[in-house]
Parts: sequence; C-alpha cells; structure tokens
Amino acid sequence: MTGRTDEQTVRVRPRNPETDGLVPDPVASSLLQPWEVWGQERFDLEMTRVFARSWLLLGDLEDLQEPGDFITAAIGHQPVVVIRQADGSIRGFLNNCRHRASGLAFEPAGNCGKTLTCLYHNWTYSIDGLLVGIPDRQRMYPDGIPTESYGLVPIRVAVGWEKIVFGCLSYKAPSFEEWVAPIMDRWSRYNIQNMSRFDRQLDPVYGINWKVFAENVNDDLHVRFVHNRLNSIRDQLDIQIFQDKRTSRGYKPLND
Ligand code: FES
Repeated sequence: MTGRTDEQTVRVRPRNPETDGLVPDPVASSLLQPWEVWGQERFDLEMTRVFARSWLLLGDLEDLQEPGDFITAAIGHQPVVVIRQADGSIRGFLNNCRHRASGLAFEPAGNCGKTLTCLYHNWTYSIDGLLVGIPDRQRMYPDGIPTESYGLVPIRVAVGWEKIVFGCLSYKAPSFEEWVAPIMDRWSRYNIQNMSRFDRQLDPVYGINWKVFAENVNDDLHVRFVHNRLNSIRDQLDIQIFQDKRTSRGYKPLND
C-alpha cells in the first residue's frame, strides 16, 4: 500500500447483496479502499482473529496492590476484569455475570473487597471467581443449581517486566514468554519495573477504528503536509526507520 504500481493486488470488496443499489464502491485499485478501514464486518473479524488471539496490555500492577484490587479492560469486543487475589496472585476473568451476562465491574480500576456482586440480580462471586451467592436461591432453583459450574470464566493473564499486566482470550496462543521473546531484550533495557506512572488517566477510549491509528503511525508521507511546520527542521523527507532489520515506518517515496 505504498502507492507503487508494481506487485499490485486489486482490492475488491466481496459482494454483499444488501448493498445493491447503494452508492457504488470506488473503482477497484491497489490502493487502500474505504471499506477496508471502516467496514464493520471486517472490524468484527479483526476483534476475534487479531485481538482475541493476542496477548494484550490490560493495565499496570500499580492498580493491583491489595487483595480485591481490580482493573477492567477489553480484549477485542470482550470486557475482562483482572483481580488481585488473597494469596498475592492475579487472576483474570470475562467481565460478565454467568446469570444473564451483565457486566460486573464497570470502573477502570478499584477495590471490590472479597466479592464481586452483579448489580442486575445480585449474583455474587468471590474474587477467585467462584459463585458464592444467589438471592432467593431455593425459590429460583428448587431443584438445585450446580454453583461450581457457574463461576466466572477465567482468562490467561501474565505480568511482563514485573509491572505490566497482559491478558489473552486464546488457549491456543503461545505462552506470554514466547509471545514477547522477540522484544524482551530491547524492552528490558528500559527498566520498566522501576517506572512510576505519571498520568493516571485510566481507560481513555478513542472513537476511532484502530486501523486508522496504525495507518497513521506508519505513514510518514503525511508529515510534510499535516505537520508542515516541521519541514524546516527535518533533514530530509525520505528517512527510513529500521527495526530488527525491517522497515518500521514507511509510506513515502522510496529511492529503490
Ligand atoms: S445478570 Fe448478573 S445476577 Fe442476573
């Protein structure tokens, strides 16, 4: 997607009969198509194929000091909650009640004490995920209910660099250690474990498709136009940044 005309793949949206009669797609070309960035169907697929199968950064141990301290986050479309346990470990769960799937914890971070209680019908879970309370249990479930089968659904969690909390929804994904191995040496040089967070603004949500952000970070071509006040101090306009021998940033005219 560099604008070069060799090695072109014509990017054509799969036909969807629901859109027949609407304004037609742009003429197919090798350049990025609007639907590739904005299409909901593709976005939903990415949330599962990319995000749900990856180890994602969820938060910071600074918010998980005492038993009952929790942080909330999302992995793809799925809300999750990570809680500091009484034994000092941390555990993560889907942030959904097993009764009618309501969310459980809504604050970006906090302390829930020894239990998490769903606001909807007050099912209560201990911080290790067990279902420990059902209001009107005899009347609601006269034949009994196997509470051991209705605990919170666990997810994989790991702590990187003694500080940063990661989570993963996939049990097929590699271990966290394998996942970060390619960047471990470089990141370890920063001594992240000794850093304190300066800005405690938690969970900002930006109303953009993640691909717009990723595209922009990788797009140096726009800098000379959008940030043109920098032009006088830039040495040249065709800088390439390499990371592990690969081009890290691009989208500019190349000399090759
Ligand atoms: S949805 Fe949580 S108690 Fe009903």
